[in-house]
Amino acid sequence: MKNFTSLEDVSDPLGLIKKAASHKRNPLADLELGKGKTLGLIFFNPSLRTRMSTIKAAQNLGMNVITLNTGNDSWSLETVEGVVMDQGNAEHIKEAAAVMGSYCDFLGIRSFPSLEDRDTDYQETLLKSFKKYANKPVISLESATLHPLQSLTDVLTIEDRKRKERPKVVLTWAPHIKALPQAVGNSFAQWINAMPYDFTIANPEGFDLSTEYTKNAKVMHDQNEALKGADFIYVKNWSSYENYGKVGKFHDWMIDQNKMKLTNQAYLMHCLPVRRNVVISDDTLDNEQSLVIEQAGNRVYAAQAVLSTLLENN
Ligand code: CP
Repeated sequence: MKNFTSLEDVSDPLGLIKKAASHKRNPLADLELGKGKTLGLIFFNPSLRTRMSTIKAAQNLGMNVITLNTGNDSWSLETVEGVVMDQGNAEHIKEAAAVMGSYCDFLGIRSFPSLEDRDTDYQETLLKSFKKYANKPVISLESATLHPLQSLTDVLTIEDRKRKERPKVVLTWAPHIKALPQAVGNSFAQWINAMPYDFTIANPEGFDLSTEYTKNAKVMHDQNEALKGADFIYVKNWSSYENYGKVGKFHDWMIDQNKMKLTNQAYLMHCLPVRRNVVISDDTLDNEQSLVIEQAGNRVYAAQAVLSTLLENN
């Protein structure tokens, strides 16, 4: 594995999941592996879980970590090639990425989409620029289109908790007050399609995710039908891919205890942060079937599996 920006970067996904489970059993077993190595974490957008879990994962491997919040802590970056830089951006990604690469052995990048222009967002210019100019392995901390560290965590959580070999996993859209990226949904679909699960996606009409990631997954527009018999419900809002960036006002898609009763005593998952009583009701989040805190805890071991693999391969 040279980079970790998509499932496509991973030659052995099952091996990576097993490695994450091994780190969970014994987090400090490889404390010497990353000694003398530096991980740079570059945030173009806010983060709680990704930031803290990746730092913790690096520390469990004995690595040093440098964190940078661009925009606040550093110069704003230009990504367009050949541009006359007489506007707001003070530094070009060519120099910035190369300099960061000279300080760090690995770089993690968080770069959300604008949700204004689909073609521009789905080109992943920022992530690709870091790959091109930093000359070091790049880890996505959530890009415009994918969130692979989250998805590896999600599969680890399902593998830990599944009660049958082929659980029914339902990814369901839920309402939100503002436009959110498709990255978590895209990435979850990409990874779950690679697992031997019975996978269904439920979303309102006009909110289908890109078929590049959903592939042959069953897509239903009736949430109640989709939830029937589910063993795991993964709840997430995303703005429209089709009518790019449009917010959906389908308030009856919120997950509550009545929806949970349709399932096979399903476990509830969400990547967090979650808006209570908009996306999921209080009593559902506080129910013993909710895995959201355990899931967030697993972020450490997913990040650790990625870092230890990159340390071994580079
Ligand atoms: N799930 C997730 O990526 O959380 P943060 O945005 O807080 O990092």
